Amino acid sequence: MSMPPSPACAFASDNAAGAHPLVLEALVEANHGHALAYGEDRWTKRCEALFDELFGQPVTTLLAVNGTGANVLALAGLLNQAEAVLCSDWSHINVDETGAPERVLGAKLIPLRSVAGRVSVAEVERACGALGNPHHAQPGVLSLTQSTEWGTCYSVDDIGALVEAAHARGLRVHLDGARIANAVAALGHGVGGLREMVVETGVDAISFGGTKNGLFGAEAVIFLNLDLAARGQYLRKQVNQLASKMRFISAQFCAALEDGRWLDWAGHANAMASELHRATAPLLPEGAIGSPEVNSVFPVLPSEAAATLRDWCFFWDWDTTADQYRWMTAWDTSPDDISRFAAGVAHVLGR
Ligand SMILES: Cc1ncc(COP(=O)(O)O)c(C=O)c1O
Repeated sequence: MSMPPSPACAFASDNAAGAHPLVLEALVEANHGHALAYGEDRWTKRCEALFDELFGQPVTTLLAVNGTGANVLALAGLLNQAEAVLCSDWSHINVDETGAPERVLGAKLIPLRSVAGRVSVAEVERACGALGNPHHAQPGVLSLTQSTEWGTCYSVDDIGALVEAAHARGLRVHLDGARIANAVAALGHGVGGLREMVVETGVDAISFGGTKNGLFGAEAVIFLNLDLAARGQYLRKQVNQLASKMRFISAQFCAALEDGRWLDWAGHANAMASELHRATAPLLPEGAIGSPEVNSVFPVLPSEAAATLRDWCFFWDWDTTADQYRWMTAWDTSPDDISRFAAGVAHVLGR
């Protein structure tokens, strides 16, 4: 039997997906005539109002062009001199940003041991042992990723406990929310879930992702702690995240935030990951694929089968020491993509 038609790189990443048609429509609508640059336009004002509404309180919204830049900007606003950032050893800022936070901010990142992408209060407390030692960079910010790089979520209580431990030691808390939409959708409390997770826990600033959730290319840094936001607009320019034609970034977020679409899109991606798990788990050895919390699964596959499968339908390695890979769904993943991919998995595994 030959392989079925490939669904191309449908499970490579959520940022391999295109933009949602409503986002493209919003871009076309924003493309009329002239509008003042650097955020002095009606789309940006609307976008700022939508973020205030979303968080249920006035926040400072600083739109940014990419996720690495958004993280650097958020950390720039939270750090003081001679301070360091505590983060998980698997965090994007530690592993996948080419050292941008260290280079741009001149601040040390201190990676903490994580379990399934999550750090614990005990690890934070241990790292805070450096406080007061003049020979050690002083922990000043705790950065958490929600949902994590391992497709897991911190519970609201986990975040609350981590924020409390950090604040008690004078640290500020950043959330890398490149996939916050998936985490909020997974919690299942609608928009209220975002407030429970981010506002009520006392997070100081969040990088609120858009690009992985159907936007063409847009991220936002949201400061909930308004005292820390005061220098934000200057820092954004310094870290090269101030877009001149900002209306095109704002218009994308407006399209996503209207009518709770951002949560619907992320909820769809999450549901498709569950479907992918349901379709492929019976084809794999017991325990080779865990059920997803959000929009990714991490199967362990024999390396030769993985190579054949990947040549047919591309996906990324995850932990090469354990023959573990990542399959990720997106706002536009279809049941047909899943049935074709599952047929390919069955084929390479001889099922
Ligand atoms: C957890 C996380 N944070 C931030 C980013 C930002 O990425 P980029 O700079 O590619 O937009 C990513 C992208 O993969 C990510 O997975």
